[in-house]
Amino acid sequence: MAVLKVYVAPHPVLKKKAEPVKGGVTPALRKLMDDMLDTMYATDGIGLAAPQVGESKRILVLDIDQPRGEDIKLEDRRTKPQCFMNPEIVWSSEDLRVYNEGCLSVPGQYADVVRPDKIRVKYIDYDGKDQEMEADGLLATCLQHEMDHLDGILFIDHLSTLKRDILMRKLKKYTKENVEDMAESHVLL
Ligand code: NI
Repeated sequence: MAVLKVYVAPHPVLKKKAEPVKGGVTPALRKLMDDMLDTMYATDGIGLAAPQVGESKRILVLDIDQPRGEDIKLEDRRTKPQCFMNPEIVWSSEDLRVYNEGCLSVPGQYADVVRPDKIRVKYIDYDGKDQEMEADGLLATCLQHEMDHLDGILFIDHLSTLKRDILMRKLKKYTKENVEDMAESHVLL
């Protein structure tokens, strides 16, 4: 098990368009997905995209069903881990949903983001199989947030320039104040 370093905005890897996975699932890609899941659970996230751990690849992992909170043991969090390679939205609803989003790469900051309530996504799963699924509610929000990461988009990019500037200033202050906490979460296990 390995917990990877999570990159924080404004790191350039978070602004890059990630490369598609080609030629099937290799042991190295499986290890990356396993490590991304470990990192996600260790940092109390419900989703994580590869660019957030410095890998500019179109891969994301999530587990929205996990019990969360400081009193929950790490080994009890793994509930329904899901891995997506080369995910693509093939349909999205006109109905919208507002969710107060946060991000491991924008620590300590939250803002309401409006996105389609339902989406249909095609992707390659952990075993290398082509899949298609429909998602709604938090799963749809989380998938769209993580897929944005693959295109170099952060949730704060959905806000007005004014709101984004305020959040980025608060983030700068936050990362300065929490630098020790953050260093701790970057330790390799
Ligand atoms: Ni994020």
